[in-house]
Amino acid sequence: MMLTIRPLASGSHSDRANVLRIFLEAPSYTALVEGRQPSEEDVEDFFNGKPDSKDAADKSVFGFYAGPAMVGCADVIRSYPAGDCLWIGLLLFSEAHQGRGHGTTALALINEIAKDWGCRRLQLAAISTNPRALGFWQHEGFETVRHTTNPRFIGEVIVMERPVK
Ligand SMILES: CC(C)(COP(=O)(O)OP(=O)(O)OC[C@H]1O[C@@H](n2cnc3c(N)ncnc32)[C@H](O)[C@@H]1OP(=O)(O)O)[C@@H](O)C(=O)NCCC(=O)NCCS
Repeated sequence: MMLTIRPLASGSHSDRANVLRIFLEAPSYTALVEGRQPSEEDVEDFFNGKPDSKDAADKSVFGFYAGPAMVGCADVIRSYPAGDCLWIGLLLFSEAHQGRGHGTTALALINEIAKDWGCRRLQLAAISTNPRALGFWQHEGFETVRHTTNPRFIGEVIVMERPVK
């Protein structure tokens, strides 16, 4: 089924409920990277979490829809960590909707937004304990640019990058 993208609003109860549902329908993600169940805090972080150096206006959140149903979501930060970068915070699909090509389509839609915003590069962080995600990003042309750590995550933080196409 065709996937469409729509901006989400932090103040919308239904958008927040849909994002919580996606996290709850994808429990393997938080289990793998943080060793815990998804919670309401994930929703808050998804909508409002950002580096201290960035303005709230630089953060955007999107839902991905298969027909009327939201099946995934993504948050992005404009001009981070450098002016020509779009940072992908989290791309997440409910488990029933993973492995069906939605990830590729969602990334193409994010790539279009990056192009509209004049960004040259896409960057993100994947966690070493989430090998499926690492494989997905590599398959999509991302290469590792650096390794770092963050006490929040079980594994190593692997920063990856791809040019905007
Ligand atoms: C990671 C995620 C977004 C990928 O989306 P997806 O819809 O499941 O992936 P797709 O079905 O679109 O896969 C796209 C392509 O990548 C390939 N791919 C996916 N995972 C792969 C892997 N581990 N190794 C190699 N190739 C992989 C697929 O084979 C497919 O290739 P094809 O189109 O040539 O057949 C999704 O699985 C997800 O939401 N995972 C949980 C959250 C998460 O880990 N997010 C990333 C955090 S960094």
